[in-house]
Amino acid sequence: AENQLLANVNMTITAGPTLEALDPVRYISNHSSGKMGFSLAEMAQKMGANVTLISGPVNLKTPKDVQRIDISSALQMHQESLNSLNQCDIFIACAAVADYRPANIETQKMKKQQGVDDLTIQLVKNPDIIADVASTENAPFCVGFAAETEHVERYALDKLKRKKLKLIAANDVAKSGQGFNSEKNALTVFSETERFAITLADKKLVASQLLTIIAQQYSQSR
Ligand code: PMT
Repeated sequence: AENQLLANVNMTITAGPTLEALDPVRYISNHSSGKMGFSLAEMAQKMGANVTLISGPVNLKTPKDVQRIDISSALQMHQESLNSLNQCDIFIACAAVADYRPANIETQKMKKQQGVDDLTIQLVKNPDIIADVASTENAPFCVGFAAETEHVERYALDKLKRKKLKLIAANDVAKSGQGFNSEKNALTVFSETERFAITLADKKLVASQLLTIIAQQYSQSR
């Protein structure tokens, strides 16, 4: 049996990619499979938490006794995340949210134009979900991820501060065999003053190690 370090803790987890529509048949997205976020949801539930999982489009089964809310776009994930806050002690943002979305969603399928060889798509910034959650009144204990291809530590610490997070799990996604759409992951977790290494392992094992760190830091913060 798992430890019960999260007994009766209300937790919201975001997972998967977001999908930003261009027209009725096309979108902008990324390679997140949702595996890391779903592993966190499964293991947190086993450690006693009441888990709400807000997920982008993925091909995964809902973990046992987890409340799952399916969304498609970043705007929808933003709305559902804020809605979950009336009952949320810990918020973990594992989703790979699109930073930008198409400025307009065409109502009809865009046609290929004769004689037009270059096409420009205008994008607008999406809201930063975890930054908005962390800056609400009575904000939950906020844990972010940082998917980086270079300067992993510097960029992760910058996100920790800028988004007002308690912890950030840095994911070096330039290394093969970890991160996006793989079975395994490795993380370096930073608080303002500490650092913890989680070595390459199956995402479920990585999830339970990360949740143990989160549970300890959360209980120290209260
Ligand atoms: O889903 P898998 O295939 O298992 O892969 C797991 C993963 C690589 C997607 C995951 O481990 C991970 O690193 N998730 C974060 C991916 C990401 O987009 O990171 P970021 O550095 O762009 O964003 C930083 C943090 O802000 C993240 O917690 C992100 O959820 C959050 N964010 C970002 C943009 C935005 N508009 N709103 C947000 O909340």
